[in-house]
Amino acid sequence: MTTTESAGPIRTTPFPTVNDLSGRRIGAEELEAVTRVINSGQLNSTVGGETRAWEQEFGAYCGVEHVVACSSGTSALHLAVAAVNPGPGDEIITTGLSDAGTVLPIVMQNAIPVFADVDQHTGILDPASVEAAITDRTRAIIVVHLFGVPAPVEELREIADRHGVILIEDCAQAYGTLTASGARAGTVGHLGCFSLQQSKHITAGDGGMVISKDEPELVRRARLFADKAWPRDTNERTHLFLSLNYRMTELQAAVARAQLPKLDGIVKDRRERAHRLTEAIADLPGLRAAPVDGSSYWQFPLFIDPELAGGDGHAYAKALAEQGVAAGPGYIQRPLYLNPVLSEAKTYGDSGFPLADVHDRYAEGLCPVTESLISGRLLVIGWNENYTEADVDDIAAALRLASKQVAG
Ligand SMILES: Cc1ncc(COP(=O)(O)O)c(C=O)c1O
Repeated sequence: MTTTESAGPIRTTPFPTVNDLSGRRIGAEELEAVTRVINSGQLNSTVGGETRAWEQEFGAYCGVEHVVACSSGTSALHLAVAAVNPGPGDEIITTGLSDAGTVLPIVMQNAIPVFADVDQHTGILDPASVEAAITDRTRAIIVVHLFGVPAPVEELREIADRHGVILIEDCAQAYGTLTASGARAGTVGHLGCFSLQQSKHITAGDGGMVISKDEPELVRRARLFADKAWPRDTNERTHLFLSLNYRMTELQAAVARAQLPKLDGIVKDRRERAHRLTEAIADLPGLRAAPVDGSSYWQFPLFIDPELAGGDGHAYAKALAEQGVAAGPGYIQRPLYLNPVLSEAKTYGDSGFPLADVHDRYAEGLCPVTESLISGRLLVIGWNENYTEADVDDIAAALRLASKQVAG
């Protein structure tokens, strides 16, 4: 409901959300897909054909030859790190502003996450900071297309190639994102990783994919890593290296296949609505929407200059909540490196391995821009393809009112 008077909240009814059908495009097609699998009696990808078909279809969508499906976005990143095959103590450069799934696989493979800082206008890894962090132990860079905004992957690929390291793109939030050169997110790096978790542009509940244009050897290792390193194509029951079972199920794959034809429409609708909001709030002092070019709007991030805006993300979130609009200050509560798993090296027993000698580095002040965004310069508004123009206008009106209130 929309009201123009400030007597009550601007918004009194819920917005569509990815957490239920109001904000998901899930229906008859997915039901038919799941039914097909159940009726086949083949629920596992080693006997059924859905997962292999999904890999083909997602590869065609992305314009890449290689896709490995797996059980989650975190497992996709684990596959990618395992494909790089770091030795204990090797380093992988990444960001402190992401889901923990970006970073935990590095430690699981006994490598060391090294945190570079981010750009203050996007929250995405700053190539200069990445390059400064490269050492002779660096094996890879994991960059996140945060909130669906394209990361500077062309620049990072050039840096990676110059230093002989692998670039992994975390595209969990970036289906349909287009990079500066017009490429699809996930196709500029050596490997790209996607998630099918509930909140993503398309979902199968959980699920993940690793994609690659032209790295068959990395892809082969990733595929083996998802299946106990069992080379089923050789008919030999052997296990070639240490790995786990991260297979996608046929049910997940069938749902993902039904979701894929809807993806372009989902991205288009998210973009149109986000552009409407970007324009509607362009004049608000100290509030800067993320760059529109190429973004697929997993969420709608706002970058705040507290001095010009009169307050930080916490003040804005509170004022918006009073108007019935939910927004999250900072995206996450602390930089990834300040979580106990890293800062206290809570890993294997009491060993602290492989972080025992480095966890002291994971302290406040390590990445100042990351920390300033999390502590108040970033505000994240939930986004959805099922928002109507009226929904967007309510958010714009709430932001305008919040700006007045907070700035005074
Ligand atoms: C940027 C990013 N990377 C990794 C992940 C991990 O994906 P999953 O939850 O599917 O394991 C997520 C989201 O959940 C994410 O947003």
